[in-house]
Amino acid sequence: MCGIIGLIKLNESDSAIKDIVNGLRRLEYRGYDSWGYAALNGTNILLEKKIGRISEPSLNGQSAILIGHTRWATHGGVDEANAHPHLDCNGQIAVVHNGIIENYLELRERLIKEGHTFKSQTDSEVVSHLFEKEQGSLFDRAKRIAPLLKGSFSLVVISAAHKDEIVAIKNESPLAIGIADNEIIFASDPLAFIDKTNTTIFLTEGDIAFAKKTNNKISFEFFNYILNKSVDKEQIKLNWNASETNLGDYKHYMLKEIIEQPKVMQDGIDFDSAESLANEMRGKKVIAIACGTARHSAVIGKHIFHKIAKFSLDVMMAHEFVYFVDDLDKNTVILAVSQSGETADVMECVRKAKQRGIKVISIVNVPSSTLARESEKVFYTNCGPEIAVASTKAFSNQILAFYLIAHALQGNLKSQIINIKSVIDLLSQNMSYFDLKAREIAEYLKNKNHVYMLGRGVNFPIALEGALKLKEISYIHAEGMPAGELKHGTLALIEHGTPVILLCPTDYTYYDSISNGLETKARGAYLIGISDKPHPSFNMWVQLPQLDKENEIFYPLIETIPLQLIAYHTAVLLGRDVDKPRNLAKSVTVK
Ligand code: G6P
Repeated sequence: MCGIIGLIKLNESDSAIKDIVNGLRRLEYRGYDSWGYAALNGTNILLEKKIGRISEPSLNGQSAILIGHTRWATHGGVDEANAHPHLDCNGQIAVVHNGIIENYLELRERLIKEGHTFKSQTDSEVVSHLFEKEQGSLFDRAKRIAPLLKGSFSLVVISAAHKDEIVAIKNESPLAIGIADNEIIFASDPLAFIDKTNTTIFLTEGDIAFAKKTNNKISFEFFNYILNKSVDKEQIKLNWNASETNLGDYKHYMLKEIIEQPKVMQDGIDFDSAESLANEMRGKKVIAIACGTARHSAVIGKHIFHKIAKFSLDVMMAHEFVYFVDDLDKNTVILAVSQSGETADVMECVRKAKQRGIKVISIVNVPSSTLARESEKVFYTNCGPEIAVASTKAFSNQILAFYLIAHALQGNLKSQIINIKSVIDLLSQNMSYFDLKAREIAEYLKNKNHVYMLGRGVNFPIALEGALKLKEISYIHAEGMPAGELKHGTLALIEHGTPVILLCPTDYTYYDSISNGLETKARGAYLIGISDKPHPSFNMWVQLPQLDKENEIFYPLIETIPLQLIAYHTAVLLGRDVDKPRNLAKSVTVK
């Protein structure tokens, strides 16, 4: 995880430190335990590191070459010593790192024997000492050091003795370069520089990028240490709109992203991509791999594929699937589902599958992501940047993608689109009502320690997702379950007043779900029904709009939204940091 940034400007400026910290703020979704930056100032390196969320920098001084880091701790606790940047013994070289250097212990021991002194417990600090040991330009040093490192890493390095240079190395962890007027920015995500430029270079495995100020211009060169040769890199123009990242009048990004879902769903309708992915799947064994919310969408996809196209889809968590990938046969297609397109567990499976000659296709939100670039075919969910750590709009558009692909498999995509659009309209009409009801329910939930969410069939993974949303942002323990499984153990936990949220639209699961709800009610549960139909057992009821029998498979597009709002309002009532919940990060680039 972690976000890194590096900046080289043609001219020194007083505002450069503010610039690097502003860029860093846009990467904060990647980790927010601690943060720091280093700025070349004459022959000195100015260094500031802080614990907690990014605040205003307290150092001043002119600079043209800087690096910054926002951390999600892996090696070493959350303290200033472990926050990046890391320096060499003399405070002359500064390094920021995203990823994990797997052989750091062995490198560290060797460096200590050679007389180097370490100040942190991180794996990253070995890099500054390795740069200290080498001779020559930062580019030459990077070429010799990169092959010594094992694991995943993107690194940006500066040195007081090389006052016109900056170097970056990329292996597995993402790194992009933004080319703006009179400055070049290195960053884990183009989001960090999209307000300045959309001209971007994406580094690939083994790339070393070196930028230097000479003759009143910044020039750059690329070398790939895996190929052991100089390489050319293509500049592309990103089709991004910086204004999409503005909060507007909303209090939190999560609320903005929930409310904008009907519009975002309209933007997510893409016939060509649905047909193209369906073509790759026909006649194949398809396994969807994903983590977190994206995996929940894939489990919903499994039900949708079965109901609409009688197509069997396997779904596995990427970090578990990795143990199966060596035994796949060539008739398999991997469908990777990911908002960020950077999740390390997903990428590991993708790479291993590709090495075995297995085709990888994907459903991705971030167009420039590693997964998008490494997949044979991509369905882009087209949500725009999702900033809140808790995923909402990306989830809905992943489900939408599964509907579209399922209908493409069935050969009736064009005729079904009118139904999908009318469901989206219904959602739009009900948004304010859902918000109102969610506030009432949140008042009840805010003092509870445990919440259970139940559903059957396609509603079961929605219960999983609703529970995940609630626990990740409110810190209330919540469990999503198949309603039929309750009596095999969990029913023992239901006592007087225990909140049970029952997802029971009048679809093919309705009667069995109601029976399971009644079983909890008989044991004292406080039953909150999410349904188009009232039931006397409900203590509270969120009324869904009613869908025709032939459209009942589309309930998931609507019924997820009240659950997202319930989680949001509960977290707000509890005073939680809604957009950046503790211990989590949006893009999980470590295994
Ligand atoms: C993290 C995020 C989740 C996300 C999961 C998978 O845990 O906090 O919101 O669902 O990673 O991320 P991906 O980008 O692959 O969808």
